[in-house]
Amino acid sequence: MERNRIYETDCLDGMEAMEAGSVDVIVTSPPYNIGKGYTTYDDTITRSDYLDWMGEVAETSLRVLSDRGSFFLNIGGTPKDPWIPIDVAGEFRKKGYHLQNMIHWIKSIAIPRPDMGSYNNITGDIAVGHFKPINSKRFHNDCHEFIFHFSKQGDVPLDKLAIGVPYQDKSNIGRWKAAGSDLRDRGNTWFIPYETINERRPHPAVFPIGLPTLCIKDHGVERCSLVLDPFMGIGSTALACIRLGVDYIGFEIDPSYRAIALDRICAEEKSLRTRAEQNILF
Ligand SMILES: C[S@@+](CC[C@H](N)C(=O)[O-])C[C@H]1O[C@@H](n2cnc3c(N)ncnc32)[C@H](O)[C@@H]1O
Repeated sequence: MERNRIYETDCLDGMEAMEAGSVDVIVTSPPYNIGKGYTTYDDTITRSDYLDWMGEVAETSLRVLSDRGSFFLNIGGTPKDPWIPIDVAGEFRKKGYHLQNMIHWIKSIAIPRPDMGSYNNITGDIAVGHFKPINSKRFHNDCHEFIFHFSKQGDVPLDKLAIGVPYQDKSNIGRWKAAGSDLRDRGNTWFIPYETINERRPHPAVFPIGLPTLCIKDHGVERCSLVLDPFMGIGSTALACIRLGVDYIGFEIDPSYRAIALDRICAEEKSLRTRAEQNILF
């Protein structure tokens, strides 16, 4: 199967056609079965059909993922139905995947200044990020989703400092054996804001390009020859791969989303070329 292509096909058929063990990283967000208004896909099937299908996705993906590969599964629920991601993770577990890391994608966080302690460079309260506000007496706004990091044996070494964050207290640099630079493990709470989009949203459920970018870097770009996104949508994972210089393959059943993905890829490649030419000139 040719690389750096998005195929308009069902992901189960697409994965069947791939070579066994050929993928280093799978990063994806499937439909959550919460009634999103996709153009082609019906996001309102029964729970048991949905979980069976997610089980099939897990089983089929196991064959194409390399033994030292990582599967980053982004999935969330709704305030009324918070079990969805846990139930789906259970299907992956049944098929033999190990849950190596349970990462929380934080979409928004509020920290009042008094809770911050001695951070002298922060002067006021912090409230960052976007979420869909709900009007409910029972439920809080849903400000996070999961990124389940699955692997075959639970022992895939990560390149944690590739997505490391600077030490707040610089005296920690060098204190720890591994700490030669001003970077520490980001931990399993990843704040990833949505990109601001001014025009009409072309797809009801995208993730920010930052999400697949962090996942691929966490696995290790050097150990990543091929990335797969079985539910490619409008191409966020492909854009992350282009920026990181790694090959990708995607599947998407909806021709209109695929067309948007291809437009975004063309624009990204054009802007990369322009930047490269400018670097040559200056
Ligand atoms: C949550 S969205 C993924 C969005 C993507 N992460 C992005 O940022 O653009 C899920 C996508 O899966 C697609 N889809 C649904 N069933 C599929 C199938 N059987 N095979 C491939 N794609 C499918 C839907 O059309 C939808 O675009």
